[in-house]
Amino acid sequence: MHIQPREKAIQKFPFACVVQHGEADVAKQPVDAVAMEAMQAFAAERGLANRIRALFAGEIVNASESRPALHWALRGGGKNIPAVSAMMHEAEKAAAFARKAAGGGLGFQVRTVLHVGIGGSDFGPRLIWDALRSYDSNGPDIRFCANVDPEDFAEAVSGIDPKTTLVIVVSKSFKTPETASNARLARDWLARTLGEADANNHLAAVSSAPDKAKAWGAADDRIFPMDEAVGGRYSVWSPVGLSLQIGLGAERWNDFLKGGAAMDEHFRSTPLATNTPARLAMMDVFLHTALGIPSRTVLAYAHRLRKLPDFLQQLEMESNGKSVADSPAGLIGPTAPIVWGSAGTLGQHSFHQLLHQGMRATAIEFIASLDAGAGDKERGRALTANAFAQAEGLLAGRSAKEAEMQLAAQGQSGPRMQEQARHMHMTGGCGSTTILLEDLSPQSVGALIALYEHRTFAAGVLWGINPFDQWGVERGKVLAAELDKAIAGGNPGQRDPSTLRLVERARKGFRS
Ligand code: F6P
Repeated sequence: MHIQPREKAIQKFPFACVVQHGEADVAKQPVDAVAMEAMQAFAAERGLANRIRALFAGEIVNASESRPALHWALRGGGKNIPAVSAMMHEAEKAAAFARKAAGGGLGFQVRTVLHVGIGGSDFGPRLIWDALRSYDSNGPDIRFCANVDPEDFAEAVSGIDPKTTLVIVVSKSFKTPETASNARLARDWLARTLGEADANNHLAAVSSAPDKAKAWGAADDRIFPMDEAVGGRYSVWSPVGLSLQIGLGAERWNDFLKGGAAMDEHFRSTPLATNTPARLAMMDVFLHTALGIPSRTVLAYAHRLRKLPDFLQQLEMESNGKSVADSPAGLIGPTAPIVWGSAGTLGQHSFHQLLHQGMRATAIEFIASLDAGAGDKERGRALTANAFAQAEGLLAGRSAKEAEMQLAAQGQSGPRMQEQARHMHMTGGCGSTTILLEDLSPQSVGALIALYEHRTFAAGVLWGINPFDQWGVERGKVLAAELDKAIAGGNPGQRDPSTLRLVERARKGFRS
């Protein structure tokens, strides 16, 4: 794998999977050989290679929570690490349950799995279900419910039958209020039709706090532990993906794991100079810290990858949205960019106007697949051509002169034409990366997700922060619990005037 200066021909760097799964073209990015050599030297200074070794050795890489990060071992590696065998034992229990559930072994036919979870217990499963489900399979469907807004639950259960539904409550901590609230709704929804006792047979729980799941009432043989050393946003490979195993079936699930495992082997064993995730991380730090580009726009030119921007928002911003140094070498900033995006070509009829003619810089990443259109070559070709066209147009831009010539060719002339041409000027010079997958097979998707996970880890090391903790999200949860009581009539305590006024307003609506 190479990342060459832009003046060199486009460089492919293959996903180091057993079979080639794709390439990342970075030649349109404002990064040249000098910059990449500097980033390579910086990575050496930051000890990136040693941190990668520590990750795969199961050493403590999550210092503030004093934990290793073992998500990658769920894809088959790390057998010499003691904690991994326990983790794989639980993974096998979940796989056995998935086979049983999909095979009608629970005493009822599972037509729908209702997956209840939020954040890392939701984004990954949602993305992979969209990416790998077959629309015409008569296997179980999966519905997702995450928000505390009960409308989300109402929509998730609309049109499905409790008699043929298996509810899986997924919460690493098993103390997330939204999931606890939706778990209660789900249990009541089941019990209204099936009665309490039978409702329990339609319930399962995934958590790294099995005791809490038990206290909530899940049966022992329906609790699937996930390891504390697997971060929520890195957990789709764990029993958090139980609903996927039931919906996709063991073969597609195992292929997904295989794709991730091949990327692990590449990241673990390939020198930094040709290591895909590490090189993309170096480029990210160069673009967002050295050049100060504040955001990254992810444009997935595949309907099946439409949830990728949401998934990456949590993976990258919850991992690297930090300002506290994790190593004596200190932090370099600004750290993680704002990640946003959508599915191509939808954005072209919306925010691409700003990408082409706005005054805000963003680093753009296109994801496209050579089997786009699922066999409909004409539409798949059109989709892919649009991705390439956007990348080309953002780089090339268009001068007012070129616009004038274009308008003149359409028979226009005079001051009115010149005025319009002035508005059609596009600065250009907007770089982008295009990740072009061979296909959207389970292996390719597995490799892609593992690539993003390792890229995020490597970028965190380069920024000098801990990519595995998320202390910043706790405060809002504490305040929400306090304000919930205040709106219900409790003493609001010392608060800013605006919040006090809002509580006062809301009391009229919500006082029970
Ligand atoms: O609040 C953030 C967070 O803790 C994420 O890190 C996590 O993925 C999500 O909430 C859900 O947490 P849990 O799986 O413990 O319910």
